[in-house]
Amino acid sequence: MKTSHLNYDQIASDYNQRYPTSQQWERGQALLDLAARYKDGNFLEVGSGTGYWLNMLHQITGKLFGLDYSFGMIEQAKGRPAPLKLLRGSAVQLPYRDNSFDLLYSVDAIHHFVDHKAFVAEAFRVLKPGGAFVTIGHDPHEGITNWYAYDYFDGVYDTDLRRYPPGSSLLKWMGEEGFENTSSQTVEHILNVHVGEAILRDPFLKQNATSQLALLEREVYDEGIKRIKRAIADAQARSEKIVFSSDIQIKMFLGYKFE
Ligand SMILES: C[S@@+](CC[C@H](N)C(=O)[O-])C[C@H]1O[C@@H](n2cnc3c(N)ncnc32)[C@H](O)[C@@H]1O
Repeated sequence: MKTSHLNYDQIASDYNQRYPTSQQWERGQALLDLAARYKDGNFLEVGSGTGYWLNMLHQITGKLFGLDYSFGMIEQAKGRPAPLKLLRGSAVQLPYRDNSFDLLYSVDAIHHFVDHKAFVAEAFRVLKPGGAFVTIGHDPHEGITNWYAYDYFDGVYDTDLRRYPPGSSLLKWMGEEGFENTSSQTVEHILNVHVGEAILRDPFLKQNATSQLALLEREVYDEGIKRIKRAIADAQARSEKIVFSSDIQIKMFLGYKFE
């Protein structure tokens, strides 16, 4: 493992490959449903990346703010049709005034933030009374995730256990910081099954497609690919089919800052 911090500048130009235009994202619908309660409100995405979700929320408001640590990702976000107010900064020290936003959310990003509890505290500070705080992503601690990458690439699962906060801790910190009506629910179920060599065409097997694989040293990544190929060959030798599955629950954690 190189480090537990990924340099998104290096993968920014490839990042949007994960958003094919053909795909409807259930997590996006969950975010839209919540955002619709704050029509014309001030929205902030922390870890906004290439601005995919902010751009989607333009149908609800024009007041769209994005904060990201990576200049490369911010450059990509500048190309979105929606007018985004983008800043470079850190999730644990938000460069905004108290009581500024109606909705503050992060998608697939909290596992990159160095201090999860500090992020929750900052979210509470910059939200307006009545505002909502949302994080969306998966929780490898839950034991309901089954992803072939965890089986074939050394260290990936353990690193995820270290990077992701358990959902139960997240809810506890939200309560401690003052959020009320906290809840968690599954908003998307990713289920992809590849049989035999088809796995080698899975776009999420590319090293730059996910932070899990991008964090690996090249040799460790190559070794994982070799293991997959060996498993395919062994199955073929036994005239069996080998199935590689990605079965991942995406959860939404939600809390409100009451007036
Ligand atoms: C997996 S990407 C998600 C981007 C976007 N939310 C999406 O769903 O497409 C994670 C993002 O978090 C950003 N990030 C990582 N650490 C951060 C930090 N401490 N503060 C702010 N952003 C950070 C990265 O630069 C990257 O753009």
